[in-house]
Amino acid sequence: MYSPERTKQLQASTTQFLKTQKTLSTGDVELLRDVLRFHEYRYYILDEPLVSDFEYDQLFKALEKLEADHPELVSPTSPTQRVAKGLTKDFPTVSHLVPMLSLQNSYDAEDLNDWDRKCREASGLPAVQYCVEPKYDGASISVIYENDVLVRAATRGNGVQGDEITTNIRQIRSVPLTARFSDYGIAQIEIRGEVLMNKNNFTKYNEQLAAQHLAPFANPRNAASGSLRIKDPQEVKRRNLEAFFYHVSYYTTTGGLRMSVDGNTRPENFAPAQVHPALTTHGGTLQMLWDLGFRSPMRERQVFDGIEGVIAFCPVAEAGRDNMLYEVDGMVIKVNDIQLQEKLGMTSHHPRWAVAYKFQARQATSKLLKVEFNVGRTGAVTPVAKIEPVSVSGVTVSSISLFNEDVVKEKGILIGDTVLVERAGDVIPYIVKPLTELRTGSEQEIPFPRQCPACNDELTKPENEAVWRCVNVNCRAQVLERMIHFVSKDAMDIRSLGEANIRKFFELGFLVNIPSIYTLPYDKIGELEGFGPKSVGNLKAAIEQSKTQPLYRLIFALGIRYVGETTAKTLAGAVSHLLEFRNYSLEQLQQLEDVGVKVANSIYLFFSNDDNLHVLQELEQLGLNFSNTVTHSTTGDLQNLTFMFTGSLPTLKRSDAETMVEEKGGSVLGSVSSKLNFLVVGEDAGSKLEKAKKIQSIRIINEEEFIRMMKE
Ligand code: IVH
Repeated sequence: MYSPERTKQLQASTTQFLKTQKTLSTGDVELLRDVLRFHEYRYYILDEPLVSDFEYDQLFKALEKLEADHPELVSPTSPTQRVAKGLTKDFPTVSHLVPMLSLQNSYDAEDLNDWDRKCREASGLPAVQYCVEPKYDGASISVIYENDVLVRAATRGNGVQGDEITTNIRQIRSVPLTARFSDYGIAQIEIRGEVLMNKNNFTKYNEQLAAQHLAPFANPRNAASGSLRIKDPQEVKRRNLEAFFYHVSYYTTTGGLRMSVDGNTRPENFAPAQVHPALTTHGGTLQMLWDLGFRSPMRERQVFDGIEGVIAFCPVAEAGRDNMLYEVDGMVIKVNDIQLQEKLGMTSHHPRWAVAYKFQARQATSKLLKVEFNVGRTGAVTPVAKIEPVSVSGVTVSSISLFNEDVVKEKGILIGDTVLVERAGDVIPYIVKPLTELRTGSEQEIPFPRQCPACNDELTKPENEAVWRCVNVNCRAQVLERMIHFVSKDAMDIRSLGEANIRKFFELGFLVNIPSIYTLPYDKIGELEGFGPKSVGNLKAAIEQSKTQPLYRLIFALGIRYVGETTAKTLAGAVSHLLEFRNYSLEQLQQLEDVGVKVANSIYLFFSNDDNLHVLQELEQLGLNFSNTVTHSTTGDLQNLTFMFTGSLPTLKRSDAETMVEEKGGSVLGSVSSKLNFLVVGEDAGSKLEKAKKIQSIRIINEEEFIRMMKE
């Protein structure tokens, strides 16, 4: 995609732009876009970035600013234009250029040999060349580029027609908005691919959902396909989706030819001599897509002469399945020669030139024996299914969370049901559905408690929430769970004090609340079975050590509702001492990155509660680190404050005023939103001022006040 020469050039331009971003001119805009596209490619396709996130952001902001100052320069293919504003109204139905067929399946060497025999017979060759690549388990899409520009993306739908989801697909950074198909003589092209959420992002995303007591997605496939038709493109962007492209279904050449090996009615027969050599083999097509900046299975694909190599390779690929970053449910074997593909043709369901080799299912069936109810650290009561132990892809499963009552009702699960259980890789197991055909009539409704199973207090269910909750903060189950969370790996990380020890010490009355972790009676612990002087010493040292953990860990460990690790980091970065949050207003909290109304409310309530403040004071006296020692606070005075200028300022040049803000550690925003702290208003201020007036938290100041602020 980028030659070493071009890489050097773009890297040199990067350095230049980073140095001179304040003085960019309109003539820089295309090069700056190319530089950003290059870094997106390095990051999203190659996973080998050449600049830091911070530097990328600086370049991106510079382009945003240039385009804001010169709206006539904005183009739909600019890297700034992925992000759509507002909500998508609907997803119109569109027809694919050729139908999206599915694949025939195979499960073993015998199936593959049968398929190979048919390919050999049709080709008249002794051995056929095959290209083997992963079968991605996501949501399939088709995209169309015209004259090198992405013009349309659609879901598979019924194969003939799908939903137009261009705006959402533009949020996926690994999908190029432009690609030089014209270099290959292509005018219009339709490409198939798979939208995926990688396993790491999936786990993180589910953790966020779980923190909000929303039902997590069962697997990355559901997370990806559930994301395609979301009306808020910003939300699509937040989900960090990715896309792989593995098939060209149709194209027209700049010379006016129409080519397709898909669909029952082929516009024209394939003639290799008339097209670019890359388009004569499947491997060549993958290479072309890769070279044009797409993710294609270039690194994963293998080419074999004859089926024997394929048969040997598939089980090896299956064995490596769990090490892949993406969910893969099989391999796809494709005839490599496109002319032979065309000769083999297709049935009404699938092409004859490709076959899927399916990996072992990750599902099993078992019987639902009973449902127990766990009380979490926030009082949420979660139903947990106890099933007859069953092995699912090598792991014995006997206990499965059912998330909440709505999920159970929606699935219609009854006690005694035979249930389908799925467990994908390291993803937590879940119940797909009950097998209602196998019911005997003796199945029973799941009784949901209205009293807390731990403390017997009445449970409550706030409107708009799916979860029943015990609101007794002294409920024993919650106190215990809060301590388990406090010491956990991502929180205070006190390894010697694992869950089992917490439970034991709680039973014995050594632990009663979080501060008691720091006043454990080590003499009594030393008398317990299994606790020699060495393990007591280790325990004591680990607990002492945890007092110096960075502030964000403590904030996360406190278990404030909706405050996950990311928000904890934001919070820690905003203060120099934890107790400063006592003086934060709801509005101030909402100014923080990614803190919305719900999260702000929860933090505000936490720091207004006397019991919580008492616990915090105790912890501080016990010597825990409450200070933010990260460098942020030592930089400018305007750290975390945002500014915007509108109208012409009486004395200052706008660019100088912006530099003043940035030099003091503040940032300049491109639009009015609740993230803005100060709008500096000059003469003839227009719509921005009107908009800012509607957002109470924005302070509107004039140049004089601004200069005074800078001097202070
Ligand atoms: S080729 C005309 N290649 O699997 C054939 N499909 O069960 C086009 N899939 O609908 C499909 N990875 O969504 C192909 N490397 C791959 C694939 C792949 C995943 C999906 C695709 C297709 C489904 C068929």
